[in-house]
Amino acid sequence: PAVDKLDLKNIQGDILSGLPKKTEFYYFFNITDGPEFRKDLCDLVPLITTVDQVLKDRKRIDDHKKQKLPGLVPLTGVNISFSHLGFVKLKINDDTLSANPASRTDAFTVGQKKDAVTTLGDPARPDGQPDWDDSFLKNEIHGLFIISGESIESIEKKKREVNKIFGVGSEKASIKEIKTIKGDVRPGDLHAHEHFGFLDGISNPVIKGFDKDVNPGPPVVDPGVIVTGHTGDEAKDRRQDWAKDGSFLAFRWLDQLVPEFDKYLVDNALKEDGNGQTLTPEQGAELLGARMVGRWKSGAPIDLVPFKDDPQLAKDPKRNNNFHYADEINSQLRCPFAAHVRKTNPRNDLEGRPNGVSIPVAPNRIMRRGIQFGKEVTKEEKESATTKLPRGLLFACYQTNLEKGFQFIQQSKVSFGHADSRTSKAHDNHIRLDPIVGQGNRVMSGLDPLDPKKELSMPAFVVPRGGEYFFTPSLKGLKNTIAV
Ligand code: HEM
Repeated sequence: PAVDKLDLKNIQGDILSGLPKKTEFYYFFNITDGPEFRKDLCDLVPLITTVDQVLKDRKRIDDHKKQKLPGLVPLTGVNISFSHLGFVKLKINDDTLSANPASRTDAFTVGQKKDAVTTLGDPARPDGQPDWDDSFLKNEIHGLFIISGESIESIEKKKREVNKIFGVGSEKASIKEIKTIKGDVRPGDLHAHEHFGFLDGISNPVIKGFDKDVNPGPPVVDPGVIVTGHTGDEAKDRRQDWAKDGSFLAFRWLDQLVPEFDKYLVDNALKEDGNGQTLTPEQGAELLGARMVGRWKSGAPIDLVPFKDDPQLAKDPKRNNNFHYADEINSQLRCPFAAHVRKTNPRNDLEGRPNGVSIPVAPNRIMRRGIQFGKEVTKEEKESATTKLPRGLLFACYQTNLEKGFQFIQQSKVSFGHADSRTSKAHDNHIRLDPIVGQGNRVMSGLDPLDPKKELSMPAFVVPRGGEYFFTPSLKGLKNTIAV
């Protein structure tokens, strides 16, 4: 079949290529004057960074590196997204975005606040609201600017430009800032690592017809899994033109309890590896962490190197994503069923199983972006094993179906298909709980390779502080329908 042609000048840059960034603002706004906003938006459109622009920017960065030039290439990016309440405020009928236009009970319409406690499992306040920062509780968030760049000066300047377009600070302002959260890549060698210390951003879906370098790994996915209006988007045929070439963005503001996580690893350090080799307390803590995530801190997948890290393998894009749990469908020896990466993308556990049903994984895949926030752990926090300063992940992911993408994964439903979970009830209850993003006190099996049925209980290490669902429209959608 013909491969969809993607108009890279029509798709916002973060969706397919990821805005290049050292630092980034997630700037949440409220629209105070709808008609005025739609006029102002015309002036923002030329500032929006498309996929085409990001590819050019990435080339500039590569050339700069090749020539061994000092410093960083100065560059910024701007993307814009809207919540359902934003479209309501703008009087734009967004039925075309809904998975069920007749009832409009889809996640995008309902919004993440309503979804948080009942569906996502976030802790609740006594009044039943999610225990989030107030700014995410008032139904005021209409849209989001993502402003990225190589330095704080660059993104502050870009934010001033954006504010000027919408008259912020003057009587004619059409928006009000609700909250801006600043994300920062971690310093030095930790730059691609999240705050628990693991290399992140290794495995994202490779898009048919878009990605040129296809490294060995999970099968490529149809563009419509991530970009609306294309093959793989179930609602493709009924998307109105303005809603094509866009994507749904699930945003989550997640605190990570790093000193507590580290202490947990030390307190529960494994004594032996899967070959029965005795481990030092440090090695035992390291292996336990690797088994919770499914990768070593270096990024090397434990499905390939279960008991000893291999930093060379971790760095090699031809090898670091080329694993399938293929010959361990019923085994947790190498990788626990509930390890974060195995639950969030079960690969051949579900798809292409040698015997039995093959359940496609592609509809549940998401394009992860996001950035770290907060300072490094202080000496005092380390010594007291207690978080004093907020830090964590501004999690963001794109997909064309929020229910099958983010919502499904966060509910940890993905590994229901494990042969084991179907046959063993006790097991079924326990493998569901993701040790990284899971909420509440919970138990997990499979952490001890020599005794996979042994259960370890654990508290939550990730605390949700807010979130929302957005739609990130195409450039044409912005120009011809949303702006006037
Ligand atoms: C992969 C950490 C939240 C979905 C990973 C990896 C790490 C990680 C270290 C491995 C790197 C890679 O394969 O690219 C974290 C941390 C989180 C978090 C520390 C919270 C603070 C989430 C959430 C979701 C999610 C909320 C979705 C609901 C995924 C997916 C993968 C992944 C889909 C790729 C799995 C694969 O394709 O093998 N995460 N994550 N993560 N994570 Fe998370």
